[in-house]
Amino acid sequence: MKGAIFDLDGVITDTAKFHFEAWSQLAKEQFGLILPAEFESELKGISRTDSLVKILEFGGLRDNYTDEEILALADKKNGYYLTAIETLTKDDILPGITRLIAELKEHGIKLSIASASKNAPAILEKLGLLNEFDAIADPSKVANGKPAPDIFLAGAKAVDLDPADCVGVEDAVSGVAAVKAAGMTAVAVGDATELAQADAVVPTTADFSYELFEKTWQENN
Ligand code: BG6
Ligand code: MG
Repeated sequence: MKGAIFDLDGVITDTAKFHFEAWSQLAKEQFGLILPAEFESELKGISRTDSLVKILEFGGLRDNYTDEEILALADKKNGYYLTAIETLTKDDILPGITRLIAELKEHGIKLSIASASKNAPAILEKLGLLNEFDAIADPSKVANGKPAPDIFLAGAKAVDLDPADCVGVEDAVSGVAAVKAAGMTAVAVGDATELAQADAVVPTTADFSYELFEKTWQENN
């Protein structure tokens, strides 16, 4: 293993509830829709506009909105989201992540971010982690969102590594699919049944370690 390519939301910090609350507020105000709780996990890893399209399809409203209107509504949601994450600090880094970053660096592993979020640099800054990563792949520069491999391929390329030499770290079904499609080893956090496509799944981020990543990569290669 030469690189670890990280998802952000749900792996480094837990922002899923803020995304879900912002979408719920928008859906209620704009469409009179109440989003079912399952949407919180269904929208994990999915880009901002793809998320809105899913919500509109759920409400049978997709054809009522132009692409331009969709962009404006997605922007409105982002405003609610930005307000919600204003108070993020280093105390919001998920358990074990600061230690994991230090362990990986000690072993000379390159670190990069492959998040669907356009807010990733701002969030990393708030967490005090911006300078810990060698690169942040830009989701606005890739053609296809997760489950397509594009953002993970961009994450490996940004640190000059072959995807096969990298472990991709994820919490979402769409994200694990993207890691595997990129030809990487997948280590995931969450429900082992839901994330069965990953090469290793642990229940919490506190279970992540250099040893786990290296061992999983070895077994996969
Ligand atoms: C992913 C989240 O990391 O980023 C998704 O899991 C979110 O829920 C996506 O929609 C895009 O984020 P943003 O910050 O660009 O709206
Ligand atoms: Mg995630």
